[in-house]
Amino acid sequence: MSTTPNTQTSDHAAAQAPSCKVSAGPHDAPASPPGKRPAPPCTLVIFGAGGDLTKRLLMPALYNLAVDGLLDGAMKIIGVNHGERETAEWREDLHKSLQQFAADKASTFHAGKLDDHAWDWVAQRLEYVAGEFETDDTFTKLKEKLARSPGGNVIFYLAVSSRFFKPIVEHLGKAGLLKEAEGESGGFRRLVIEKPFGTDLATARDLNAHILSYAKEEQVYRIDHFLGKDTVQSILAVRFANALFEPIWRREYIDSVQITAAETIGVEGRGKFYEQTGAFRDMVPNHLFQLLGMVAMEPPNSFDAEAVRDKKAEIFDAIKPLTPDDVVFGQYEKGPAGVGYREEPDVAPGSTTETYAAARVFVENWRWAGVPFYLRTGKRLAARRTEISVQLKPVPFRLFRDTPVDALTPNVLTLRIDPAHGTSFDFNVKTPGPVMQIGAVQSSFDYADFFAASANVGYETLLYDCMLGDETLFQRADSIETSWCAVDDVLHPKDGGAMPVHGYAAGSEGPAEADALLARDGRAWRPLQKKAAGTK
Ligand code: BG6
Repeated sequence: MSTTPNTQTSDHAAAQAPSCKVSAGPHDAPASPPGKRPAPPCTLVIFGAGGDLTKRLLMPALYNLAVDGLLDGAMKIIGVNHGERETAEWREDLHKSLQQFAADKASTFHAGKLDDHAWDWVAQRLEYVAGEFETDDTFTKLKEKLARSPGGNVIFYLAVSSRFFKPIVEHLGKAGLLKEAEGESGGFRRLVIEKPFGTDLATARDLNAHILSYAKEEQVYRIDHFLGKDTVQSILAVRFANALFEPIWRREYIDSVQITAAETIGVEGRGKFYEQTGAFRDMVPNHLFQLLGMVAMEPPNSFDAEAVRDKKAEIFDAIKPLTPDDVVFGQYEKGPAGVGYREEPDVAPGSTTETYAAARVFVENWRWAGVPFYLRTGKRLAARRTEISVQLKPVPFRLFRDTPVDALTPNVLTLRIDPAHGTSFDFNVKTPGPVMQIGAVQSSFDYADFFAASANVGYETLLYDCMLGDETLFQRADSIETSWCAVDDVLHPKDGGAMPVHGYAAGSEGPAEADALLARDGRAWRPLQKKAAGTK
């Protein structure tokens, strides 16, 4: 999360869509936007060159960075995958998918028409290397190629199934490819690791130990793609760039916080992965905890990576270990939105894997003692919505008691992450007319009203920061482990039993038991779907 001075742009006129001033020459780098510097030269080695992540997210992000002039002209991109093919064929495949995504309004990469110069600029830097991820030969080939890496800098991006993480790191380590030469001129060697980082505390510890036996912590960039979202990074901006919020951001004024990541999609052909993972492991100790960390952390002394990560680490450390009693699991059944989970491809007919999880979390520190953080996530829910709602406590003195306006709607600040981008604030005003009546209203800010839509698939900042060596948005080994530790009793209940999984209709608000989790505290989930007027 590199910070640049004077980046406040609030008027429409100033917010221009980035123009592509790209030259196709190998060292002729496009101009970077003011206040931004291009990343240092490097070779980006992508393991999993033929995979979905490379196609859907990494290549669009590299293309967007090229359009913005943020890549060095000497940069190289090597794609490694099993399966013989020529570089030209790989380039052509990527070009086709980029064109498809660009034209697809539903895709995060809806750039419209591809800029040919920008694509040529990226395409010239692509090279395909055929190789298995577990054989010495692949790494010998790579070593030869990397001897000529620009600046001696190399980033290894593991866009592969998690079962390949350990063997790839081991081969890189044994081939000497992770060794950074001493001194400034030596060049960097960095390792980017995708989620899932382990499946519980024991496996995450084991993976960290394995990686750290071949690389230093500073070389390891563990990705949580939620941190690449502008709206997630903006949580810190809202909190720490405004005088309004921080004084009330504490137990004295905040009643509770709801963090929601609701999806309308089902498992979308990922049945095999999902059967072993489930909604809880897939989303809670990683994405949802990261959001919780951003909301709950103390102000850091600076935006230096360690300063920010230390403050977040304190929060993960302060999370009261969850018990099965704090958690509800659900699984979608046939409903208005389609078939049940058990009828999805690659899912066992009697599967007990959860597609929904809700949790009540407490952060045990001075600021947050007693404030519940309610987390929920699920597939095939009534609406797609990722957001954080901070509900304030009622006013201390009920000035309107014994009048028709006795019951006031609580103040709620909602930070909208996806698909809406912005914030809203629910508060009370007097309704017009001679009688004193209070009406609840909402004041909203939408990014699109103030800023030009940015071409952003969420990986641009992460890739750029990794090239710059800024680890602020990446997860440290200790935080990964403390997060898994906080949920260990849910994954491995002490009584040896399994968490019950409750049904919910596909397209609904989730299982009734999740409503009961909040009802026992006298609270309710914010509805995913607006209720029709006159309904309860
Ligand atoms: C991924 C999960 O990490 O995040 C998916 O594996 C989930 O199951 C996805 O759908 C949600 O991310 P986003 O950015 O689409 O909200």
